[in-house]
Amino acid sequence: MVEETERPEPASVRPSFDGGAPAPVGDIGLDDHVRVETGISEFDRILGGGFVAGSAVLVGGDPGIGKSTLMLQVAHEITRSGCTALYVTGEESLTQIALRARRLGVDADKLLIAAQTDLAAILASAKKLEPGLLVVDSIQMVYKPELGGTPGSVSQIRECAAELICLAKQSGMPVVLVGHVTKTGAIAGPKVLEHMVDTVLYFEGDLHHAYRVLRAVKNRFGSANEIGVFEMRSNGLREVSNPSELFISGYGGGVGSAVVPCIGGTRPLLVEVQALVTRATYGTPERKVSGLDRNRLPMLLAVLDRRGGLQLGGQDVFVNAAGGVEVDEPAADLGIALAIASSFTDKPLAPRSVFIGEVGLGGEIRAVSHAGARVAEAVRLGFKRAFLPKESRSALEGRMALDIVPVSNIIEALDGCTGA
Ligand code: TYD
Ligand code: MG
Repeated sequence: MVEETERPEPASVRPSFDGGAPAPVGDIGLDDHVRVETGISEFDRILGGGFVAGSAVLVGGDPGIGKSTLMLQVAHEITRSGCTALYVTGEESLTQIALRARRLGVDADKLLIAAQTDLAAILASAKKLEPGLLVVDSIQMVYKPELGGTPGSVSQIRECAAELICLAKQSGMPVVLVGHVTKTGAIAGPKVLEHMVDTVLYFEGDLHHAYRVLRAVKNRFGSANEIGVFEMRSNGLREVSNPSELFISGYGGGVGSAVVPCIGGTRPLLVEVQALVTRATYGTPERKVSGLDRNRLPMLLAVLDRRGGLQLGGQDVFVNAAGGVEVDEPAADLGIALAIASSFTDKPLAPRSVFIGEVGLGGEIRAVSHAGARVAEAVRLGFKRAFLPKESRSALEGRMALDIVPVSNIIEALDGCTGA
């Protein structure tokens, strides 16, 4: 529970933007729907082809994941097209930013840095400089004294964000708000922030891995769920252009391992899922997942138990998506279930194979979206066989340079998955 003091404001102070009288949709010019490319192609793709003029983007992620690093790099790259970029920090001193900039090799004259937390001052600098991009790092630090309360409180965040978004709409400059994330994964502060902005990007990944996945959770100007993969190096973030290769780089076809083709927005991605099943040493068996949907594991275990006849009741089960990527698609069910079965029976799955399918409560294997793109990615990376739901078979058979093995239920999958 957080106490909030209600302070009525005069209506004129509230942020608003006025686009004039209502007009027919066909008559509205598209000239202000221009895109500004950043030159970092993974980042541009997530945005749907660069920043849209006047758009507001929220970048969230755990502390230390690389939000500030990425935004400083993006601000730098954007100056190559000749515009200025204004990076406002409320968290670090100018010296700290300068140190980071040296480390990243960032020194453009058109990249301006300001250490500022006062909203009015930020708005004034942005209006005066009219930069091609404004980055506010972070929105939790921005403060409007008239509102009272502490920086980062719900009302402060809401009002400050509203004014910055309003500035974006009025001036046409793209505005990036960097936001903190709480342990539970929600962007700290009001959830309403996610509704207010046009695009929400979320940095995922394990701090122990060098790889970071930037995911578009919401995008009014592109496809949601689009992902970009970056690697954190000693001189900043670098794009990873062939992420499938990366995520299956440790795949050796051992016991408990399955390769699953996932879809990140418009791009297929192969991910290795690993499972370890071992007899529980304490009363209640442990069920742990990393990088996967934790609510789906008990369901898959129940299906394997009741429909597949595997007695998993007294077993600890650990499942992991390799490389720090997050997989939360039902299409990964079959691969996860078979990786668990493989570890339990101590038999490896069919070599150089991928597994695609949603598992239903009746043990049936259900059709998935984008089956063609998933299989094509497996072909590209040299896989020889794809286990698929029956429904997806007719569209693919004969068109792909790999064996298609249709499976209609979990029993068939368990029988056929070791392959010959
Ligand atoms: P940072 O961008 O400050 O994270 P955030 O703003 O999301 O809190 O990133 C900090 C981490 O990144 C820090 O642990 C050091 C690491 N890092 C590198 O490995 N290489 C680099 O070039 C930079 C700038 C940071
Ligand atoms: Mg930071």
